[in-house]
Amino acid sequence: MTICYFTATGNCLYIAESLGGTCLSIPKLMRQAQIEIADDAVGIVCPVYAGEMPKMVRAFLAKANIKTDYFFFIYTYGMAYGEAFAHAALAARAAGLALAYVGAVRMVDNYLPIFKMQQQIEHLPEKKVEQHLFAIRRDIESRKTTAVRITPAVKLKMAVYQAAAKRILNGDTAQSYLVNASCTLCGVCARVCPADNIRLTDKVNFSSRCEVCYACLHNCPQNAIHLKREASPARFRNANVSLKQIVAANDDTDKA
Ligand SMILES: Cc1cc2nc3c(=O)[nH]c(=O)nc-3n(C[C@H](O)[C@H](O)[C@H](O)COP(=O)(O)O)c2cc1C
Repeated sequence: MTICYFTATGNCLYIAESLGGTCLSIPKLMRQAQIEIADDAVGIVCPVYAGEMPKMVRAFLAKANIKTDYFFFIYTYGMAYGEAFAHAALAARAAGLALAYVGAVRMVDNYLPIFKMQQQIEHLPEKKVEQHLFAIRRDIESRKTTAVRITPAVKLKMAVYQAAAKRILNGDTAQSYLVNASCTLCGVCARVCPADNIRLTDKVNFSSRCEVCYACLHNCPQNAIHLKREASPARFRNANVSLKQIVAANDDTDKA
C-alpha cells in the first residue's frame, strides 16, 4: 500500500503513518517531472480546506499517474468537511481513477482566523481520533468500498463552498502575514512551506504560491508570524509529530 500525504501541522502525517504502508510526501512528489505510482492500494491523506482538498492535492491528482485496484481518500478536518467527499470522487474521476473508499478523521482545527489552538487541543479527546482511525484502518484492510452520490443538492452545496474556497485559498494570502521582531531568520518557515513560497534575505519574503496551510505560522519556533486577524496567538502541531518530521515532509532542499 502507498499513501501520499499533505500536511502542515502533522495531523495528516500522523494518520498516514498510522495507516501503514509506504508514505510519500505530496509536496516532494510534485517537484518531480513525472509521478508514477503503482501499488495494490493507493491512498491520499490530506486536510479539508474550505470544504475541499488543498490546491496542491488537486494538482497532484491531475499530474500523477496512479495505477491501483483500490484508490482511497482520507481527510482530516476540524469542524465540518462539507462536500469534500464529492470533491474527492470528482477529482479521482478526472484523473481516471475510481474512488473505492473515502473517510474522514476529526482532529484539531488549525484554522487560525476562527479557532483558538489551546481550546482545540483541550477538546481533542472528545473527537475520539484513535477510535475513528481504528475503524478506517479496518475498512482499508478489508478493502471496504463506499459510494459517493453526487446529486444536484450536493452540486449546489459544492458551488456555495467553492465561492468561500476561492476567497480563502488565495495564493497571495501570505503577502498579508505579519512577521514580528522576534524573528531570528532561522529559516524554519521556508523549510516547512510545502509550496516553496518563502525566501529569506534580511527578512522573510513571501511569494504568491501560498497554499494557506499555515505551516509557517504554526511551526515558527519564535511564534513570530501572525495573521492580521487571528483568534489567539497560540499555535499547534500534532503531539505525535516533530518539527523535524514536518521539515522532512515539506522541505525543498532534498528531493522525494
Ligand atoms: C485554510 C484552511 C481551511 C480549513 N478549512 C476547514 C474546513 O472547511 N473544515 C474543517 O473541518 N477544517 C478545516 N480546516 C482545518 C484542517 O482541515 C485540519 O486542522 C487538518 O487536520 C489539518 O491537517 P494537518 O495538521 O495535516 O495540516 C482548515 C484549515 C486551514 C488551514
